[in-house]
Amino acid sequence: MNVQGKALRTIFLADDDWRVTIIDQTVLPHQFQLLHLSSLSDMATAISDMQVRGAPLIGAAASYGMALAMREDASDTMLVNAYNTLLATRPTAVNLHWALNEMKAVLVTLSEDQREQAAYQKAAELCDEDVAICSAIGDHGLPLIESLWQAKEKKASSEQRVNILTHCNAGWLATVDWGTALSPIYKAHNAGIPVHVWVDETRPRNQGFNLTAWELGQHGVPHTIVVDNVGGHLMQHGQVDMCIVGTDRTTRTGDVCNKIGTYLKALAAFDNHIPFYVALPSPTIDWSIRDGVADIPIEERSSREVTHIVGRTQQGNIQEIQIAPDNSAAINYGFDVTPARLITGLITERGVASRTVNNVNSKDDAGLEAPLAQLFSDKLPKNR
Ligand code: MRU
Repeated sequence: MNVQGKALRTIFLADDDWRVTIIDQTVLPHQFQLLHLSSLSDMATAISDMQVRGAPLIGAAASYGMALAMREDASDTMLVNAYNTLLATRPTAVNLHWALNEMKAVLVTLSEDQREQAAYQKAAELCDEDVAICSAIGDHGLPLIESLWQAKEKKASSEQRVNILTHCNAGWLATVDWGTALSPIYKAHNAGIPVHVWVDETRPRNQGFNLTAWELGQHGVPHTIVVDNVGGHLMQHGQVDMCIVGTDRTTRTGDVCNKIGTYLKALAAFDNHIPFYVALPSPTIDWSIRDGVADIPIEERSSREVTHIVGRTQQGNIQEIQIAPDNSAAINYGFDVTPARLITGLITERGVASRTVNNVNSKDDAGLEAPLAQLFSDKLPKNR
């Protein structure tokens, strides 16, 4: 995607060909700052402090974290330590486990002197794969937007744009390139379809207004920021044609764990008969679990993210201020689970897994499990 008119990925090697360059997402949209990471500990901190975030990018970053670790020390002890350190950075996004397992599978078979080079090579491959997957998600999501646009174009009374609501940041910044939820939107915009995005602010980290609004702006996609509670109202007034969100972990039955607040958007969309799609790369599917509410670990972050907010002062400095009373307790759940029954379809790199009937209360509704399994029959665990 473009930053100041130039195509850029969110993670790449520095000019010295070994340090890992990332965009510091904690200072966007006020500053665009690249950071060069040179150790396992730099990468673990970057992931846990959310300098890089978003499920696919967390996976990509962890794979380069393994490469940096192998450069420091390619012993078996370091391999185990790096795997465990990176795994502990964020609990919910399953792409982290997936990427670390991919790296480990390659590295354990090699001697110490082969590991550094192989780790860099595998990390680069995983990043390229993420770009291809996210681009394909865009290609499969585009026809959904196209058909909404064709229907609207025919009705002279309709507003002549497709209004799409998204939550959090599931865009280019959450992946290596393209994004998941935003990939179909970029493809539609590039194809000349007039799309307009409602950007949920996404308290408490504000990934919506800090990141989604910024990256849509960089690419010239029309958008409007709304506070988190506005979505239902917009839906009741015909202002939302579809919702597309990302996910950090999806069960084999199609339950979706995504940024806190996604569930409420899905409920409102369901009540207003608005299509609610989730865009996901297959490494985000956890085939080992069926019940998202019971089985997905929900990250709980510092309450300070709720009681304080970061912004730019009139003098141009980035500053944190307290917004809550001194002694009030606060709790900060990072994610929630949207049950598959509220989801219209899952947009994947292999196509869209959609329910076969519109009425989820119908006995004919087979849910999302069968369509998802059909797309990924080669990835289903053998013993289940
Ligand atoms: O806490 P974050 O910012 O890492 O959460 C990100 C999200 O919830 C995204 O929607 C999800 O990772 C999908 S990203 C393509």
